[in-house]
Amino acid sequence: MKSYDVIIIGGGPGGYNAAIRAGQLGLSVACVEGRATLGGTCLNVGCMPSKALLHASELYEAAASGELGHLGIEVKPSLNLAQMMKQKDESVTGLTKGIEFLFRKNKVDWIKGWGKLDGVGKVKVSDDQGNVTEYQAKDIVIATGSEPTPLPGVTIDNQRIIDSTGALALPQVPKHLVVIGAGVIGLELGSVWRRLGAEVTVIEYLDRICPGIDEETAKTLQRSLAKQGMTFKLGSKVTQATPSADGVSLTLEPAAGGEAQTLQADYVLVAIGRRPYTQGLGLESVGLQTDKRGMLENQGHRTSVPGIWVIGDVTSGPMLAHKAEDEGIACIELIHGKPHEVNYGLIPGVIYTKPELATVGKTEEQLKAEGRAYKVGKFPFLANSRAKINHETEGFAKVIADANTDEVLGVHLVGPSVSEMIGEYCVAMEFSASAEDIALICHPHPTRSEALRQAAMNVDGKAMQI
Ligand code: FAD
Ligand code: NAI
Repeated sequence: MKSYDVIIIGGGPGGYNAAIRAGQLGLSVACVEGRATLGGTCLNVGCMPSKALLHASELYEAAASGELGHLGIEVKPSLNLAQMMKQKDESVTGLTKGIEFLFRKNKVDWIKGWGKLDGVGKVKVSDDQGNVTEYQAKDIVIATGSEPTPLPGVTIDNQRIIDSTGALALPQVPKHLVVIGAGVIGLELGSVWRRLGAEVTVIEYLDRICPGIDEETAKTLQRSLAKQGMTFKLGSKVTQATPSADGVSLTLEPAAGGEAQTLQADYVLVAIGRRPYTQGLGLESVGLQTDKRGMLENQGHRTSVPGIWVIGDVTSGPMLAHKAEDEGIACIELIHGKPHEVNYGLIPGVIYTKPELATVGKTEEQLKAEGRAYKVGKFPFLANSRAKINHETEGFAKVIADANTDEVLGVHLVGPSVSEMIGEYCVAMEFSASAEDIALICHPHPTRSEALRQAAMNVDGKAMQI
């Protein structure tokens, strides 16, 4: 029986980064992945293909809406959806092959097939030919990720009622796309299809979009998306969806109860969250159980069984690729005997719509609930010269600092390219920077990043350009 120091089950951002770090540290390591390509949800059907379509559809809309015309660039675009999908698929293939290269470089064995725990220290792998091979490892890391949460009464058939994977590969632009769930997937993929010409209605159970995100920031994004033509039905629940050959008939009701109404769509995207994936993993063979949400609990990445670790979407915390990556690194460093910790208070989140939304640290609502005194500095992109010259003036930078110490506690951005700018505050906050520290640091002009500095200045009411 082949034996390794570490076997990782799952080749997504959690698993592949763990495997690479194990290889770097000189551990003998294998990664078991059942999918035909490495990279997990993120590279195959998540982060990367969605960003490819967001990028392409943003450019298409800029041309189609007259935005380019306003800059003096006259074009009449026509949509070649097949080519848009092809370039997305080619990029995804390039990225997944890239992980294979990194595995070879770091001496990681890719064991192709579905892994199943077979007692402590043992993993059985079934390949697509039906062969079963058993392997041994001192440590096993579970990194099996997540899958879309189903919605009772709305059965995903990936024909007319689709999940995010279906929404990344529609064969045509829907006339009317109904999205259930105003979370990250709903807003990003809803944006893609709206930009390409679909009427998009987003149905959300709560009375706000993006629960958990700073409320003022989420509302600002909602206003922008509504202005672009996305329709929001908040405080509503879908009770039934009946598909036919060319569409879906939906029944919805106010979440608090009340009169039902019907809605016709040609496609329905169910995006109400994701749930941990542990199917067929043989947890019972080691005496592990999931909690009522299907999640495997951890304490410092350890399960309750010595030698079995867990990282990424399948365990607690935000379901984000960079969180899975950080846990992968920390877990392997711990296995190797070095102390390592993930700072869960500083995991940034981004919604890649236009404008983008980026956030790190505490929201105003959290600080209020904690009873912590805070100050807020805001600066609108309308007053930022680079944003103004580029006609991208929606949104703001908002910095929340401790009222007594001035330490930055949270940063919430809606605006152009904020996904690329939030990292500045991740670094600053990791070093416990004060708002004044940021206000004193020279930022290049003209850049949108100046709005981040001005917001920090405004924590003490000293923004200069407003
Ligand atoms: P996964 O990436 O899900 O990988 C788990 C892997 O394990 C899978 O490949 C699966 O095939 C494999 N596996 C499962 N069971 C077994 C088994 N028994 N044997 C062998 N292999 C197994 N996050 C971001 O941070 N930024 C984004 O922009 C972003 N966009 C997203 C867009 C969409 C549409 C979706 C759906 C998700 C997005 N996410 C994004 C979330 C991100 O994809 C996940 O948080 C991330 O992939 C989690 O990594 P993971 O390694 O825990 O699991
Ligand atoms: P989500 O948790 O972001 O949003 C789900 C939304 O659906 C919530 O607003 C929730 O209130 C609502 N909802 C729940 N049940 C409902 C119901 N019955 N009817 C109507 N609305 C309902 O989940 P989403 O968008 O599915 O994304 C899944 C995960 O993938 C997220 O955890 C996210 O972190 C990750 N992701 C990250 C991205 C990024 O970082 N840019 C992009 C896409 C996904």
